[in-house]
Amino acid sequence: MTQRILVTSALPYANGPIHLGHLVEYLQTDIWVRFQKLRGRRCIYLCADDTHGTAIMISARKEGVSEEDLIARMQKAHLDDFTGFDIEFDNYGSTNSEETRQICQEVWAALRKADLVVEKEVTQLYDPVAGTFLADRFVKGTCPYCKTPDQYGDNCESCGRTYGPSDLIDPKSTLSGATPELRSARHLFVSIEKLHGFLEQWTQSGSLQPEVANYLKGHFLNQPLLDWDISRPAPYFGFEIPDSPGNYWYVWFDAPIGYIGSTLQWCKRHGERLDDWWRNPQTEIHHFIGKDITYFHTLFWPAMLKTAGFNLPAKVHIHGFLTVNGQKMSKSRGTFVRAATYLKHLDPAYLRYYYASKLTGGVEDIDLNLDEFAAKVNADLVGNVVNLAARTAKFLAKTGLSPEYPDDGGLFAQAAADGDAIAAAYDEGDYNRAMRLVLAAGDRANQFIERSAPWNLAKDPGKARQLQDVSTIGLNLFRQLAIYLAPVLPRLARQTGELMNQPITGWDDAKTPLVGKPVRRYEHMMVRLRREQVDAMIEESREKEPAVETTPAAAQDSDAPLKAEPLVENYISIDEFAKVDLRIARIVAAEDVPEAKKLLKLTLSLGGDVRRTVFAGIKAAYKPEQLVGRLVVCVVNLAPRQMKFGLSEGMVLASGPGGSEVYLLSPDAGAKPGERIH
Ligand code: MSP
Ligand code: ZN
Repeated sequence: MTQRILVTSALPYANGPIHLGHLVEYLQTDIWVRFQKLRGRRCIYLCADDTHGTAIMISARKEGVSEEDLIARMQKAHLDDFTGFDIEFDNYGSTNSEETRQICQEVWAALRKADLVVEKEVTQLYDPVAGTFLADRFVKGTCPYCKTPDQYGDNCESCGRTYGPSDLIDPKSTLSGATPELRSARHLFVSIEKLHGFLEQWTQSGSLQPEVANYLKGHFLNQPLLDWDISRPAPYFGFEIPDSPGNYWYVWFDAPIGYIGSTLQWCKRHGERLDDWWRNPQTEIHHFIGKDITYFHTLFWPAMLKTAGFNLPAKVHIHGFLTVNGQKMSKSRGTFVRAATYLKHLDPAYLRYYYASKLTGGVEDIDLNLDEFAAKVNADLVGNVVNLAARTAKFLAKTGLSPEYPDDGGLFAQAAADGDAIAAAYDEGDYNRAMRLVLAAGDRANQFIERSAPWNLAKDPGKARQLQDVSTIGLNLFRQLAIYLAPVLPRLARQTGELMNQPITGWDDAKTPLVGKPVRRYEHMMVRLRREQVDAMIEESREKEPAVETTPAAAQDSDAPLKAEPLVENYISIDEFAKVDLRIARIVAAEDVPEAKKLLKLTLSLGGDVRRTVFAGIKAAYKPEQLVGRLVVCVVNLAPRQMKFGLSEGMVLASGPGGSEVYLLSPDAGAKPGERIH
């Protein structure tokens, strides 16, 4: 057994939000890391934002902010999403860090020294107005084959053919609309063909899933490997190449080096040596990635590591893509769900469990079937696992657990013996098998409870001792499941530790039952998932995402005292309050009223096809496109008012002094348009 395990997930791009597809990977990795830690292994989990490249540069320009500000904002948003899903990194860095730059230089020096760097002339389209070379996706024009207009520079969405951007008829830069010119520049390449023999051997040495190893053999390693273009001329957001001024490392050069950069940050914080983690046979490196980036991680990356004398990955765990209801995630179907949107509607434990139950350690795509999602969570988590605690803990609040573990017919011992098989399944990444084994133990425990019917024993004071014993057995069988599920459901494990006054700290805790301890009052550990919550999430994702992020009050500076304003001037009766008909409404359209200084025209949906038009004085605080899709609170029985621009049929509630400081009210997750507020 090695002394150390270093685990990474792919570094998410800083130019987009985290969505449910990404979470397949980050949850899969987090579960694996938590499992290793629970088994007592020395293990660290590292990640970072992938921040460089043309796309970030362009987004920053469009927003009129610096790249640094943009990536800082995205990093925070990504971390919030990950934290919301209980994904726990030991370090979450950025590729735009001094640590990453330092390792890039080290790797670069090694590539130069090994004589793997060559220089070649590259001709590319150049936007003379924006002053930048154009990646294929930034050029649009007419398809040279089928003549469909408005196609990207790499392939045609209509006929599916691929071509180069300079083949397009009448090409235009999507940045400025200018006609691009062909320009040539010197680029630096890495000749990885020189490492062909090494890569052939390494890819077949057991670090890759067999299907991946075969794919590489049949598609890449059966011919000479092409030189890899790793530089881009200015302007480019990235690191300038020290011995080639005006040229920058291409984003895919420094991205995987970000794994080491993030480790270096962690090492500095913990007084550890980088070489113990990256240049030591006692450390295993595990990368978790999606199938789309296989080639970077299994050919280029090992070639760089080898050349610079770093550890090679012990294993690259490659997973498939997420589909929703059997289809690609889609914005129009509402199945392109952002992590933040999910968290507004649903408990993260649901998705953690559902993905775990789907992941087998293979490269197949995994499907989020929304009906199955709801059914599985309710049947397995709430109905099977948590139900065990709900049906027994309450009978122990006064007496505590029995002083000795009663005879349970071998149930505890059987589940304890399952521990090795469940652990092996986790270790192999076959969480599906692990979940099935846990549920089987849960079924046996539930049958025991059914047979023993503690709720009947509770009615007979003469059976108090028996009730305590049955409940002690039931609750201990539950605790075993909570331990086995701890990598997937860390919150449930924590709650179980609190309930039984004994924190769960290791896998072997499942080997010994607890006795003679007090038990706290049982509080709900998990509630049933309601299908409406899923529907509301899809509904919210279908429309344009509201760009106004409602910052939770707790995250604000503090609740600063407002200027003296009497809290209550006149009391009203509940009947008077009831006269105000307040409803939840969804903004389905928002438009500027050009003739009015302060007003936006809002179209509100109050459920079904009930619509209201409201003119709201919020122009200085919100842009119309930020509002579409969000929920607000509306007074619907305010007498309609004829205005210059049309009839206003209500009022949306907001706080703040006015002008740009207006804050619309929004309800918590679960509220639906049309619902009455009381
Ligand atoms: N920045 C690169 C990775 C650099 S690693 C040195 C990148 N970023 S990404 O944001 O596009 O994707 C991050 C990870 O999420 C990748 O492993 C990718 O495969 C995974 N997924 C992104 N969309 C996904 C799905 N729809 N389904 C499953 N995984 C997905 O690639
Ligand atoms: Zn075409």
